[in-house]
Amino acid sequence: MSGVSDGTRELLVTTGRADAGCVLVAVRDSGPGFAPKDVEHIFAPFYTTKPAGLGMGLSICRSIIEAHGGRLWANANTPCGAIFQFMVPAYPDDSS
Ligand SMILES: Nc1ncnc2c1ncn2[C@@H]1O[C@H](COP(=O)(O)OP(=O)(O)OP(=O)(O)O)[C@@H](O)[C@H]1O
Ligand SMILES: [Mg+2]
Repeated sequence: MSGVSDGTRELLVTTGRADAGCVLVAVRDSGPGFAPKDVEHIFAPFYTTKPAGLGMGLSICRSIIEAHGGRLWANANTPCGAIFQFMVPAYPDDSS
């Protein structure tokens, strides 16, 4: 959101229970968002649109979350910005 000069910058982090014994975390921002066509590119290693970006942040986040048996995905926020959400098992050692 550092590139947003007018209007308020809002970041909302929520947590809750999801289906099947999972925890759901959602991070919503009021930044520039991304084009729908870029929704999977943004998770690719070294994909960046920032002048000094490495393009590693989301790729690392996804691999950590998947290593814990979860998943990470993104959507457009309304009226602007992005929503990143991940689910991870609440009781990863519980095989029942
Ligand atoms: N909250 C967001 N809103 C809009 N676009 C985003 C958001 N987060 C990531 N992106 C897009 O996804 C790209 C990849 O993000 P990622 O975090 O992987 O790398 P980066 O932020 O560019 O660099 P770094 O390696 O420093 O994190 C960004 O360059 C940007 O285009
Ligand atoms: Mg990043």
